[in-house]
Amino acid sequence: MDAESGYRELENIARRAVETLQAVETLEDLEHLRIEFLGRSGSIARLFQELRELDSSERPAFGKRLNEVKKEIESRLEAREQELQSRLEGLRMSRESIDITLPGRSEKLGRKHLITRIIEEIEDIFIGMGYQLQEGPEVETDYYNFEALNTPEWHPAKSLADTFYVEADGAKSTALLRTHTSPVQIRVMESRKPPLFIVSPGKAYRRDVPDASHTPMFHQVEGFAVDRHITLGDLKGTLELFCHEIFGAEREVRFRPHFFPFTEPSAEVDVSCGICEGSGCRLCKQTGWLEILGAGMIDPNVFGYVGYDPDEYSGFAFGVGVERIAALKYRIPDIRILLEQDFRFLQSI
Ligand code: PHE
Repeated sequence: MDAESGYRELENIARRAVETLQAVETLEDLEHLRIEFLGRSGSIARLFQELRELDSSERPAFGKRLNEVKKEIESRLEAREQELQSRLEGLRMSRESIDITLPGRSEKLGRKHLITRIIEEIEDIFIGMGYQLQEGPEVETDYYNFEALNTPEWHPAKSLADTFYVEADGAKSTALLRTHTSPVQIRVMESRKPPLFIVSPGKAYRRDVPDASHTPMFHQVEGFAVDRHITLGDLKGTLELFCHEIFGAEREVRFRPHFFPFTEPSAEVDVSCGICEGSGCRLCKQTGWLEILGAGMIDPNVFGYVGYDPDEYSGFAFGVGVERIAALKYRIPDIRILLEQDFRFLQSI
């Protein structure tokens, strides 16, 4: 190599470097160029090799220029690399950026079943009046479910057609699924002394064919009060207050004479129909009234079973049908839907 051709080649390399580095669009291509110009067998390295062939008088000047071009290429490579890096960074940022004006996705929250909510609402009303919560077993004995509740052997509720028996041996301890929550009265009175003000929610079972207003398992809230001087007036006042709390002050309440073996006198309690407001409609079967609970003054015979003196103590009891309340409050035409897991229904109430 002579000096002239050496300089020509060097300037060519310098020009090509400027052009190609300007045009390169990816870091990968940039790396290829780095190797091409500055690599161990790249064009700059080759000229350093050839430098040795030059006349010693020309070597310093050529070497100086060669170093300048090398530095120039290095700094252009670095500048381009930074440009490409920051462009990549910009792209990545815009791809990852979050549009904070987009509306958020709402999560579906679970909630308590309507039956649970109504039970809690009923409990709260009575707890507010000073009652205590006490639950009892769902598998009961004939004694607690019937006998101690003054229900005679021949009573139709005891028949195989009405009650689910677990062991039908007819013995005193016959196991059955309780047909109402009233056995809790006996269990509590047996183990405690008055004054008693108790609410007891839970499941009850009857051999009913399911229809719009019957399911073989349903819920009741039992309530009872035992003390000295408890009167029918107390029962009426308590249940009127309860009905107004749960259905609204504008609803009327009436007591209709009825019969239960364990209360005397007994009554069924109706509230005025909230749909037709008393004028008569399909829900209330044109009567203007809807039955929601059974109640009465605890029969002195029941006190006999638990060792209370009926001359000293008196009491009242009532049993509220929870599905009934749900159907009336939420206008549910068929209570079987309360046991089905239909999401559309469950989310609507
Ligand atoms: N246990 C009765 C029923 O299931 C309701 C009731 C409870 C009636 C307490 C009077 C007193 O129908």
